[in-house]
Amino acid sequence: MDFFEVVNERHSTRAFAERPVEAEKVQKILETANRAPSAGDLQGYEIYRITKPEHRSALVQAALAQDFIAEAPVVLVFCANPARSAVGYKERGVWLYSVQDATIACTFAMLAATALGLSTVWVGAFDEEAVRQAIGIPQDLTPVAILPIGYAGKKPRITPRRELSDLVHET
Ligand SMILES: Cc1cc2nc3c(=O)[nH]c(=O)nc-3n(C[C@H](O)[C@H](O)[C@H](O)COP(=O)(O)O)c2cc1C
Repeated sequence: MDFFEVVNERHSTRAFAERPVEAEKVQKILETANRAPSAGDLQGYEIYRITKPEHRSALVQAALAQDFIAEAPVVLVFCANPARSAVGYKERGVWLYSVQDATIACTFAMLAATALGLSTVWVGAFDEEAVRQAIGIPQDLTPVAILPIGYAGKKPRITPRRELSDLVHET
């Protein structure tokens, strides 16, 4: 798939097959996330790779019982690490750049997963403290996105988008 096919093929998947994800594919996804740009190249984020069933189930509870999270054989949790970004950018690094860094890395991971024939869904609705507890994240990190990754269990729904004429503003 070329880049534009990858972008068009990516759809949120909320049902995963029992089929495991190959270790090489997970490695490739993590390497791709690690190529994401970050403010000052400080990489103000951390990635947690979750595979144990009990941890995936704990994430479901932390994320409003979105039970498809536990169906995915691999779940990545992207966390902002404000202290890393603060080194270069003080307050702006703390509240903005570390969150943006984590967000961009998660986006790279999503697209890499699609290019490898896998499916994902970005999960943002969760209780931060419950996520910390579920997978043992320290207090100085902020969970930003949960990304379940697996083979699709059913065809995802294609979602609409705004018209460019509504979205793009020329001045
Ligand atoms: C910041 C953010 C938070 C999201 N949180 C959730 C979520 O908690 N649960 C869920 O099922 N989907 C979640 N989504 C996925 C969106 O619902 C989905 O991207 C949107 O409906 C467009 O569909 P598509 O991804 O298939 O293009 C989230 C997406 C983003 C970017």
